[in-house]
Amino acid sequence: MEDLSLHILDISENSIEAKATKIIIRVCEDVKRDLLIIEIQDNGKGIDEEKLKKVFDPFYTTRTTRRVGLGLSLLAQAAKESGGEIKIESNAGKGTKVKATFQYSHIDRKPLGDMGKTITTLIIGNPGVHFIYTHQIGDRKFKLNTKEWSR
Ligand SMILES: Nc1ncnc2c1ncn2[C@@H]1O[C@H](COP(=O)(O)OP(=O)(O)OP(=O)(O)O)[C@@H](O)[C@H]1O
Ligand SMILES: [Mg+2]
Repeated sequence: MEDLSLHILDISENSIEAKATKIIIRVCEDVKRDLLIIEIQDNGKGIDEEKLKKVFDPFYTTRTTRRVGLGLSLLAQAAKESGGEIKIESNAGKGTKVKATFQYSHIDRKPLGDMGKTITTLIIGNPGVHFIYTHQIGDRKFKLNTKEWSR
């Protein structure tokens, strides 16, 4: 995967797979601190403690269609390659939060890519899911909330 926006799409698919009804995606470009932070938080079924230890293992998946689960391990690799890291917090029955950090100026940091396309794809493909997307660049902040559209 060339762009981080495609990783974000992929990680959000995990949330949808986990029956989330609300997904919050945060992108923060903090050039001053030389950091790019990506967070995907959901209210899906969560992951229990035992399984949580295995999620970055490419051979761990609860899929029945394939034997490998690459989404999280590929994002972890992309973060590590650019001097960053990945963290996951999850509570069974409550939800999951994935946070990946990148050194903004690192030569191996993948470009963010087309976030607009990722967000539109998610919203159009999952009309029942409440999406919140925030994108902060320095002091400027953009926010999109699909709840504000419905009536
Ligand atoms: N948001 C989430 N909520 C609940 N479980 C999750 C979530 N994200 C990941 N998991 C669990 O972690 C496993 C590994 O996720 P990962 O994205 O790495 O692979 P995958 O989704 O199984 O396969 P792939 O991403 O290659 O299609 C999943 O099979 C699922 O059991
Ligand atoms: Mg996945």
